[in-house]
Amino acid sequence: MKKVRVNASSAYDVIIGKGLLSSLAEYVLEAVGKAKLCIVTDDNVDALYSAAAVKSLKAAGFEVEKFVIAHGEASKNTANLISLLEFLAERRFTRSDVMIALGGGVVGDLCGFAAGVYLRGIRFIQVPTTLLAAVDSSVGGKTAVDLAAGKNLAGVFHQPSLVLCDIKTLDTLEDSVFADGCAEVIKYAIINDREMFGRLQGGIRENVEDVIADCVKHKADIVALDEFDRGTRQLLNLGHTVGHAIEALSNFDISHGSAVAIGTVIVTKIAVSMGICNTEDQVAITSLLHSVGLPTDCPYSAPELIRIATADKKREGDSITLILPNGIGNCRPQKIAVSELEGYISKGL
Ligand SMILES: NC(=O)c1ccc[n+]([C@@H]2O[C@H](COP(=O)([O-])OP(=O)(O)OC[C@H]3O[C@@H](n4cnc5c(N)ncnc54)[C@H](O)[C@@H]3O)[C@@H](O)[C@H]2O)c1
Repeated sequence: MKKVRVNASSAYDVIIGKGLLSSLAEYVLEAVGKAKLCIVTDDNVDALYSAAAVKSLKAAGFEVEKFVIAHGEASKNTANLISLLEFLAERRFTRSDVMIALGGGVVGDLCGFAAGVYLRGIRFIQVPTTLLAAVDSSVGGKTAVDLAAGKNLAGVFHQPSLVLCDIKTLDTLEDSVFADGCAEVIKYAIINDREMFGRLQGGIRENVEDVIADCVKHKADIVALDEFDRGTRQLLNLGHTVGHAIEALSNFDISHGSAVAIGTVIVTKIAVSMGICNTEDQVAITSLLHSVGLPTDCPYSAPELIRIATADKKREGDSITLILPNGIGNCRPQKIAVSELEGYISKGL
């Protein structure tokens, strides 16, 4: 078992280990004490893991309610947010009560947002069940729902009181969902940690507890420096600006992780073309992404990508900031004029 402390505006532990779900009540009790609990989950995860979670909680005397959404990104919407808030209010949840997000990033983002605004903020616990949620979305306090105009356009910063990751739950993930999480795992190594990159080349699934702990340590360091995403935290956008454009152009047929993998290859090639990253590192990055089952070739042209990327919420006037690798383990933000972006992206394709 591994424990990582996150020193955000409110500090909390991320606990990673095998079989933790059956002892959920112990960890909840230690983190938040006795409270009424609302588990938020999706239908897939509900069928697999709610029973174990509820059994542990009820055996310890917790009163437990459960709110289940349909699986998939389409559920991360304002209608479900409002239904969830009404659900809490009807059941008289108070400011001392607690929500539990049991699932992937969709459940975590929706539950976290509801916890952040219900009664102006109640506590919540993240129990991530996807690799992506374990290494990224469950840690750091970003919550959101999607609006018609785009993904994650409404949300609040609201830190969980605990993150409990039972790596056994990852055994039931579809390979493509596991691979999506690998894109974020590899991202941390490219941003921060050349040695970790080497370890990842030895296998991610085989060493998943250590891998998650490494990623969470990196995320915790970045969140401690820049909880509200005003500087250093932007490094976590490696591959994401172009990745978001790829996701949108595919009408979300290309998954987030696959799009980030392709976006990462594109920005790495841009870095090579600028002379700030060497070709060996670019080849190693592409081959590691490929080896975990992620795509690395972009099906779209530079003008198509630009059209969407320049509408990104992270655009600042006439420029856009791309995160570029100086090499594996070291990245930098690079402001690029929108007028020059097409030329750069062409070099990355
Ligand atoms: N808040 C943040 O900082 C942050 C960071 C990155 C991504 N995100 C968000 O996270 C979301 C993506 O998260 P995700 O990739 O976890 O997707 P997801 O929550 O949709 O889960 C993917 C699929 O896996 C299923 N699933 C979950 N756990 C399972 C398990 N243990 N076994 C079998 N199936 C399981 C789900 O039902 C779903 O069908 C996006 O909405 C993205 O915007 C948020």
